[in-house]
Amino acid sequence: MRITKEYLDSLIENGRNMLKPDWNLWNPKKSDEGLGIEFQGLKKSLNDKNMRIKLDLEGLNLISKKTLSECIERRKSTRDFSNKFLSFKELSYLIWETCGVNEHKDGYLHRTIPSAGGKYCLNTYMFINRVEDIQEGLYLYLPDNKELVLIDSKSNLVEKIDKAMFNQMYNSAITFIWTAMPYKMEYRYYIVSHKMIAIEAGHACQNLYLASEAISCGCCAISAYKQRTIDKIVKVDGDNEFVIYMAIVGKEI
Ligand SMILES: Cc1cc2nc3c(=O)[nH]c(=O)nc-3n(C[C@H](O)[C@H](O)[C@H](O)COP(=O)(O)O)c2cc1C
Repeated sequence: MRITKEYLDSLIENGRNMLKPDWNLWNPKKSDEGLGIEFQGLKKSLNDKNMRIKLDLEGLNLISKKTLSECIERRKSTRDFSNKFLSFKELSYLIWETCGVNEHKDGYLHRTIPSAGGKYCLNTYMFINRVEDIQEGLYLYLPDNKELVLIDSKSNLVEKIDKAMFNQMYNSAITFIWTAMPYKMEYRYYIVSHKMIAIEAGHACQNLYLASEAISCGCCAISAYKQRTIDKIVKVDGDNEFVIYMAIVGKEI
């Protein structure tokens, strides 16, 4: 395909339109949810052979001595990390703060981040390479089970993921990889969904920045990566589920 100026201009226009959807065109009765169409969740091919690890969620409120104000004031993007390992408890804390389930109430799900209509359309994957007692590999977090599932542990993953993110893994201990499952939002919000999906990813990453600061880790948001390559690495189809945001975390120097 020839990339013309007109084509690139049309992408700009589409991008701007995505950020200012016309709510007058949204009729909740015409959405799949409004029409009573049964929600078809995404089928993940996870089986019993995938190693599973329960998070350690005991006493997470005691993990940091810093106040919220201190964490907000000190928050910055870090691209330089020490070689130290995070503890499993620290990993559990970071995961909980970015995608923990607080409660299911009155038909709504409440997590540690907000989501439009409680639809929660993100999945959290992590490439873990320096956490105590955890085998290096790519994991998916299952919020309802509070457990990690090992997706891939091939030895060349670190090089593949680093290359896919334009060598921005630096010396981090964990790479967070958030995917979006757009239909979860479109099921109710249809044409006005897509801005809200992006905003939800921002909430997750901001919590990760602050939670990292709370345990003396650095964090950096990463939005520049090779879309198709990273989608392939996390084994998603790139359409019904695709990577939307990433972030690196590691112990401060
Ligand atoms: C949506 C978003 C995408 C970003 N993508 C990248 C990125 O791909 N690579 C990078 O090094 N920093 C990235 N950053 C971090 C910004 O460069 C950083 O937040 C900015 O320079 C301000 O610095 P501070 O976070 O230390 O205050 C991103 C930040 C945001 C909010």
